[in-house]
Amino acid sequence: PYAIWVSEIMLQQTQVNTVMPYYERWMTLFPTVQVLAAADENEVLNAWEGLGYYSRARNMLKAARQVCENYQGEFPSAAEELCKLPGVGRYTAAAISSIAFSADEAVLDGNVKRVLARVFEFSEEVNTPEGEKKLWLMAAELLPKGEASAYNQAVMDLGATICTPKSPDCAGCP
Ligand code: ADE
Repeated sequence: PYAIWVSEIMLQQTQVNTVMPYYERWMTLFPTVQVLAAADENEVLNAWEGLGYYSRARNMLKAARQVCENYQGEFPSAAEELCKLPGVGRYTAAAISSIAFSADEAVLDGNVKRVLARVFEFSEEVNTPEGEKKLWLMAAELLPKGEASAYNQAVMDLGATICTPKSPDCAGCP
């Protein structure tokens, strides 16, 4: 759960290729949530240097300390609990819960929105509160129970590689 949380926070606003060396270095410097919680903020900000959106790093330190203080150093498995951690929104909570704990939680990010909108010919705005509400419901309904980890990551990867914003490869679509 700790490793998945770290990667999901880093991937919030940064591409996989950029994240990879930072992720590897971070896991060497801060191998567990306890080590991170005990670090000082300057150490943490140094490890983040170059990734941008530094509030992510500050929130990670706060969240690590909360996990140690409020959850005995174990990440909670329920998305609803994960949402209480600083920097963890609905998407990230569902990603951690499904990938780390196999919970039946659907994710909705930019890639998933585009896939759903195209497959179901969704004609409303995808970025309004009403549009998002419908898409979250759609995503939850489609989720194959017990397979959320692989399914969620597959839909995100489909959106990133085949169902791309421009010139999607519809012939190659599963
Ligand atoms: N983007 C962020 N997290 C991801 C994941 N686990 N799989 C695919 N794309 C992602």
